[in-house]
Amino acid sequence: MKAFVLEDFGLKNLKQRTVPTPEPGPGQILVKVSAVSLNFRDRAVAEGYYTPEKMPPNLIPVSDAAGTVSAVGPGVSRFSVGDRVMSHYASRWLDGPPRRDLGDFTLGGPLDGGLAEYLLLDQDGAVATPPSLSDEEASTLPIAALTAWFALFERGGLEPGQTVLVQGTGGVSVAAAQLASAFGARVIATSSDDGKLARMRELGAAEVINYRTTPDWAAAAVELTGGNGVDQVLDVVGGSSLNRSVSATRPNGHVAVIGFLESMTASLDLMPLLYGQTRVTGIATGHRRAFEELAAFVGVHGIKPVIDTVHAFDDAPLAFERLGQGAFGKIVVRVG
Ligand SMILES: NC(=O)c1ccc[n+]([C@@H]2O[C@H](COP(=O)([O-])OP(=O)(O)OC[C@H]3O[C@@H](n4cnc5c(N)ncnc54)[C@H](OP(=O)(O)O)[C@@H]3O)[C@@H](O)[C@H]2O)c1
Repeated sequence: MKAFVLEDFGLKNLKQRTVPTPEPGPGQILVKVSAVSLNFRDRAVAEGYYTPEKMPPNLIPVSDAAGTVSAVGPGVSRFSVGDRVMSHYASRWLDGPPRRDLGDFTLGGPLDGGLAEYLLLDQDGAVATPPSLSDEEASTLPIAALTAWFALFERGGLEPGQTVLVQGTGGVSVAAAQLASAFGARVIATSSDDGKLARMRELGAAEVINYRTTPDWAAAAVELTGGNGVDQVLDVVGGSSLNRSVSATRPNGHVAVIGFLESMTASLDLMPLLYGQTRVTGIATGHRRAFEELAAFVGVHGIKPVIDTVHAFDDAPLAFERLGQGAFGKIVVRVG
């Protein structure tokens, strides 16, 4: 089969090769990949600064894939040939609290990912694709949308009418805005770009703040909530910006620590945290039960994931370069 392999760290070492097509063993399914979507993580893995010690040589990268089951191994009962499925990133995390070894079984490193004609999955590590979505749309759900869903509902306990602040207009934040507004929450969106903020309004954001022209966006958010603060912030920025997320949040509100666009380390001012009694939770995508609930919600509410660009398979390296260049929503590579 055709596949991209990471011969060494560095995007220039992402090479298209012909490699043996895997065969499904007991409990495994072989998926003919139709589309993959890229996440910031995929680039970090390729560049060698995302747990490089865990990455095997000649890894097939990219965590998120959607396609059709083309063969099943002995004992498979969850899926049949012809079923449309999406990959489940944290492949062994099915429900409940995560295990310490969660990071040993994630797709797109250290396990092979979807940037190939075929992807071998454990039957437990796949979720049925909502019929309302194309494969390109479905390929955007496994990390970005699930992370947003998990932060909002599993960890954040979102209720209709509550206020959620999302940062920037990348994959996680756009999905979060769509999900939260479909649920009946009030979304405040931030971005560096007024044009993107207008698009966030079209997707359901009730209020918008340009964090470039309003650097103290946290104060602006507090003002927009009558002085009390938002119920939840989905923080994708990390670094010192986390302090602003805490100050934007109402007492006893929730900050989901998701991303590290500014920095992977943060120095937190403890007094606002203590007096605000803010709940701060680290998020690592989500478990399969939440993914299945997300897929059902997307179907029922007719949510269409926002795709920035679709690249041809041969142009996958260009798609990686598009990451971090201000895409609105998701970057997709068409495989099949
Ligand atoms: N923990 C998890 O499970 C998990 C899952 C998925 C992603 N993540 C992490 O979450 C982060 C976001 O992921 P993503 O895929 O949504 O990223 P993305 O699609 O690359 O989005 C980046 C967007 O964020 C905004 N942004 C960049 N720097 C910013 C800053 N300093 N302050 C405010 N906004 C800023 C920009 O939006 P504007 O152009 O609108 O300003 C930019 O376009 C990444 O660090 C990623 O690794 C974590």
